[in-house]
Amino acid sequence: MSGCNTKPSTASPDFDAVKAVNETYSARALTAGQDTERSTSIAQAFGYSPEELKAIPAEANMGLSCGNPTAVAKLKEGERVLDLGSGGGIDVFLVAAKVGPTGQAIGLDGSADMISLARKNAAKQGLQPPHVAFVQASLEKDLPIESNSIDCIISNCVINLLPPSGKANVFKEAYRVLKPGGRIVLDDIVAKKPLPDNVKSNLAGYVSCISGAVTEDEYRAFVGDAGFKDVLFVDRKGDLSVYWQGDTAPNTCCSGPTDLSVCPDFPENFDANEWAGSYQIYALKPLGNEPVEASPTTLLRWWDAYPTVKSSPQFLTADEVVDLVRNPELKGNDKLAVIDVRRNDHGGGHVRGSEQWPAQTFYDDLPAFFEKHKNTEQVIFYCQSSNGRGPRSAGWYQDYLDSRAPDNHASKAYVLQGGIKGWKAKFTGHDDLLDYDK
Ligand SMILES: C[S@@+](CC[C@H](N)C(=O)[O-])C[C@H]1O[C@@H](n2cnc3c(N)ncnc32)[C@H](O)[C@@H]1O
Repeated sequence: MSGCNTKPSTASPDFDAVKAVNETYSARALTAGQDTERSTSIAQAFGYSPEELKAIPAEANMGLSCGNPTAVAKLKEGERVLDLGSGGGIDVFLVAAKVGPTGQAIGLDGSADMISLARKNAAKQGLQPPHVAFVQASLEKDLPIESNSIDCIISNCVINLLPPSGKANVFKEAYRVLKPGGRIVLDDIVAKKPLPDNVKSNLAGYVSCISGAVTEDEYRAFVGDAGFKDVLFVDRKGDLSVYWQGDTAPNTCCSGPTDLSVCPDFPENFDANEWAGSYQIYALKPLGNEPVEASPTTLLRWWDAYPTVKSSPQFLTADEVVDLVRNPELKGNDKLAVIDVRRNDHGGGHVRGSEQWPAQTFYDDLPAFFEKHKNTEQVIFYCQSSNGRGPRSAGWYQDYLDSRAPDNHASKAYVLQGGIKGWKAKFTGHDDLLDYDK
């Protein structure tokens, strides 16, 4: 971002708007926790109670909300809730408390920095996938969520930030992922009348959640075209000047909701309360005539809830691993460990002497795994064919090792090429190499 006077390109306004929003909120994520007083007063002005704010990490609230959807969503124990544009996780954490351990709270956000911040905040709260998951995803694209899997979708001051094609897409996707009978409960900025062109085209205004706001009629068209029924708009009658004024941080025109009057290209004397309001928006996905089976899982890929692997651990062939496991010098002296990361498909044989650490929970187990294996020189991971879970778990372990001082450990991660499938194809009948799980 070069400053307040950066305008979306007319050649590709959608792309530039999305990019600008992503850069703006990524920058904001990096300053989370630096202006707690201002963030607290904005959040309270938009409906959060002091008790709610005390129950979550301070860095989860950056004063970016324009309502409090969990206060009105009538969430029940066991429900699965999706938050679109989850930021630092403020609403996801409040959802988690309401739906309890049998429910699920998933936050999607397009900014890698926001996702990383939200995951750190979740760790502070002792919350982990699958109960609480944060996944990086663009709301203008297909959501990484199973169809018919979610009870309630919330969102807080996000939809206005999407370009028109993104607004249309996100409601179509919301409809797809909700179970029949599921609901959306949103807080968003809605224009009270069509905004002037010089506001609509202003990037500082856009990233500050005003210039992308559409009228109630336009908003209803997006929601209705996606198939939603019983659409209700409630003007919260909040004072938007709380949101767009009094920013004390220097040079923040383009770093999130800010004092627009200091942006040189923003129309002078613009009264946000005259042109727009913060609204609660409710809608239902109808039940339909045919019963639809709800999906048993929510995330399309469970590993989306964890960081992307950076390292590329070396693959070892089955013959290379056999030489290691049969080497008497490596036995029982912390030099070698073979790790089976399968879970449901563990039956049918495993490498004799291997330890089981299921990949689905491995990332959260890393501190304990490291404590156990930090002096194990070669740690060899495998799954069924070692195409997915094996390399992924090895990569997470290697990344964990790489993030530590080299003199803090003596360990290195490897992958057994071909997994247990290849191992069995070669060594069935070799009882010292295979345990048949009888
Ligand atoms: C105004 S902030 C609100 C954050 C959070 N809901 C809260 O109340 O604190 C908007 C959030 O939406 C995310 N966002 C904006 N446009 C997005 C898009 N196209 N795809 C995914 N996330 C997006 C931003 O990264 C940011 O975290």
